[in-house]
Amino acid sequence: MKILITGGAGYIGSIVTEMCLAAGDDVTVYDNLSTGHRRAVPADARFVEGDVSDQERLAGVFRETGTEAVIHMAGFIEAGESMRDPGKYFRNNTCRPVSLLEAMVEAGVGEILFSSTAAVYGNPVTELLDEDHPREPTNAYGESKLLFERLLDWYDRVHGIRHAALRYFNAAGATGERGEDHRPETHLIPLILQTALGRRGRIDIFGTDYPTPDGTCIRDYIHIADLGQAHLLALRSLERGSIHYNLGNGRGYSVREVIDSVRRVTGRDFPVVESGRRAGDPGVLVASSERISAELGWQPQHPSLDEIVASAWEWHQSHPDGYQE
Ligand code: UFG
Repeated sequence: MKILITGGAGYIGSIVTEMCLAAGDDVTVYDNLSTGHRRAVPADARFVEGDVSDQERLAGVFRETGTEAVIHMAGFIEAGESMRDPGKYFRNNTCRPVSLLEAMVEAGVGEILFSSTAAVYGNPVTELLDEDHPREPTNAYGESKLLFERLLDWYDRVHGIRHAALRYFNAAGATGERGEDHRPETHLIPLILQTALGRRGRIDIFGTDYPTPDGTCIRDYIHIADLGQAHLLALRSLERGSIHYNLGNGRGYSVREVIDSVRRVTGRDFPVVESGRRAGDPGVLVASSERISAELGWQPQHPSLDEIVASAWEWHQSHPDGYQE
């Protein structure tokens, strides 16, 4: 397929690009490099530096490349930051990519995969979150993604653009060549690994008074390669119509359990400090991914947390400065 990937220079985007190329797709990465890394983009992908708000440019690229489908991954992703600067999230995750949808209408591109998030659900009312769970985001980040999901519904109803909204739980881990390099880094696993490497002095636990067995937040960590595989499957199922899928392992780990896993995998110890809660964090987020398993046959191949952490550890050791020269 001929695919355009916005945000293809980011952590998840560059790995999905790598996997689409390996599956024989023709890939154009479209990224403004505001947070992505040019060096993360695989050499076999076409690269266009541009913004999702540039409708004319996008429509031109769609026509030149014969794009058949878009994977829209560009966006800001920090729940904590969204509670200090919600405007950044609503502007960039909800408003500006309307131009992307308009460019698709203009150029006749009829399919889009959208990187959505578990943060659309808010605090769980059932143990496992399935796709029909109420959507009551506890942070502006989740709301900004939920609003874009709703825009996608309207572009389907009015213009017939089919979409799959993939609600990621906590993507983690690495492939041999590509891994997680956010600046600043805010995600738990890379932060602990940088601490294990001695590049940070300590890891903070954000909140020890959650109603969970050890008092710390529980998340469902999913290996980046399993996440990528779901994109390949979803892309090839869009002719069936628009859909929402959760992507997680169905097993939650607390912050303390993740720290223990890093100690086990790396054989290193490091300072851990108990700090206050981070605004907007739900206590528990664990997926039911039954729907994508039943409908597309998706099965995570690397569900073990230690395996996920080990792949990230390998990448951090071989890329201690991330993608920096
Ligand atoms: N945490 C700490 N200390 C840190 C960093 C994080 O205790 O230094 C905790 C957080 O409070 C949270 C957990 O570790 O409980 C995971 O935090 P991350 O920042 O790694 O991930 P989030 O769960 O906040 O968000 C991530 C992605 C989102 C995605 C979401 C879905 O950033 O894009 O997972 O669950 F939507």
